[in-house]
Amino acid sequence: MNLFKKKRTPKLAFLISGRGSNMSAVLSAIAAKKLNAEAVCVFSDVKSAGGLKVAKQNNIPAHSFSPKDFSSREEYESKLARVISDSGAEWVICAGYMRILKKTFIDYFPNRILNIHPSLLPSFPGLRAQQQAIDYGVTTSGCTIHLVDYGMDTGPIIMQSPVPVHADDDERSLSVRILKAEHETYWQAIQKVTENTFQVVDRKVVFV
Ligand code: GRF
Repeated sequence: MNLFKKKRTPKLAFLISGRGSNMSAVLSAIAAKKLNAEAVCVFSDVKSAGGLKVAKQNNIPAHSFSPKDFSSREEYESKLARVISDSGAEWVICAGYMRILKKTFIDYFPNRILNIHPSLLPSFPGLRAQQQAIDYGVTTSGCTIHLVDYGMDTGPIIMQSPVPVHADDDERSLSVRILKAEHETYWQAIQKVTENTFQVVDRKVVFV
């Protein structure tokens, strides 16, 4: 047995819709050798997404098309799944991808799709999670990285980071504070699932 066998490098595809700062943070962790992974593909459903420029700067093959270019949601998702599998990606990292993934796509990558959400789920799923936290009056919110299932922000949780909510916070100031935690947490969650074996038991991620 070769004890010095090189570790396999997990291949990641990113799904984005916007600036892609979470993707950039994961790419920085890879560049800094904190995370053993390789980005092989970036996809955006928004052609003007800033994150596509980040992909270009990092020489990562990038693709963009929109559901509007297809006659059905299933056709769009089948094409997307083909693009991602053809890239050789084993893990799909949703980083500000502003669409709900449906069964057609999810079934291609069972328990291999991660998402980041800016609240401590199951509190405040859906849009404007930071404003929801302020409106509710919680004193702690944060971010959650979870596996994607058929629901909206309902998948098994991999990792969470708490972030304080201050009395004078508005949506913007809280979003900035949570985003900082997102950038520090996402790569660690990716590391956790790619370096360890896990099963999903009773909707929970169980490391074995
Ligand atoms: C993040 O707050 C993420 O939690 C949410 O969308 C935002 C994306 O930001 N899903 P960015 O594009 O990664 O900068």
